[in-house]
Amino acid sequence: MKDLVTVARALFASGKGILAADESVATADKRLAAHGIAIGGEMRRAEREIFLNAEGIEQYLSGAILFSETFAQKGSDGKLFPASLAARGIAPGIKVDQGTEPIAESPKEFITNGLIGLSERLLEFAKKGALFAKWRAVVRIDGDQLPSSRALLENAKRLATYAREAQAAGLVPVIEPEVLLDGMHSLLRSKVVLEEVLATVFVALEAQAVDRASVVLKTSMVLSGSETGKHDAPQEVARHTLEALVANVPKQIAGIAFLSGGQTPDQATENLAAIVATARAASTSWPVTFSYARALQEETLQIWRGEEANVAAARAVFLNRLKRLSAAVSM
Ligand code: G3H
Repeated sequence: MKDLVTVARALFASGKGILAADESVATADKRLAAHGIAIGGEMRRAEREIFLNAEGIEQYLSGAILFSETFAQKGSDGKLFPASLAARGIAPGIKVDQGTEPIAESPKEFITNGLIGLSERLLEFAKKGALFAKWRAVVRIDGDQLPSSRALLENAKRLATYAREAQAAGLVPVIEPEVLLDGMHSLLRSKVVLEEVLATVFVALEAQAVDRASVVLKTSMVLSGSETGKHDAPQEVARHTLEALVANVPKQIAGIAFLSGGQTPDQATENLAAIVATARAASTSWPVTFSYARALQEETLQIWRGEEANVAAARAVFLNRLKRLSAAVSM
């Protein structure tokens, strides 16, 4: 079994980050349809191939998170996607949660499912070559009312249970408690909620005796709600995000990977660059990188449009974004 701390640290190799390509079937089809592209298993495979088999991605990617469907699919070279990533030194990861559902007592909030049969699924993916796993919980802000303590506690408990089981199965756990961008909240409210979320999650990890040294935190940034129409200055985003993280994230974890959460690709790049610069100046103990889905895929899908003739141009846009993100984390 590979040493989990070594695998986790390798995800933060200099100038590299993680591609999140782990949208569920329904979300992947929704994204394709939004770009006027046909949906279905073969189109999803063709879409994944644009990203996963683009030449040169290994310079910028340390890992890629896949959905179970993609984990079992092949590129047009006949190789399974996880094997061809691993051959290029990119760690294959697997999303193991089974999506979210509204909480009966608080229907605007969500709980993440997937604990049933989890240890078997983790072992199965480890056997098939996964090196790390991901579990996503979502946290909604609504004025001072949400998130509720019930939602925070239950999601934290499930994240911790998953992390413990992932480590037991020999997989690095990426824990993703995402504070949603949707809403009218201020930047400061987003910071307070992120702090509360992180504090709750790390208490839960402690309670389940999860080894922090191989945990990767995938987190949102501190940002004003998307419905405020406010464009926060990257320095403000960086300052508040790092204050929240420094106060609540143990020094011993392997590293922090940011999600893009619906920011434009440029915003997600500029905010990440500011966060990395601020983190370096403050000599934070954990390394920082990106683990983007939308901010790495949107521009590429716009160019591709489902046409073979556009693949080269679509890949060029993807590589260009990767280069910019790599530069942001190399500073
Ligand atoms: O689960 C969500 C993804 O891993 C991150 O996606 O960068 O589009 O927020 P995003």
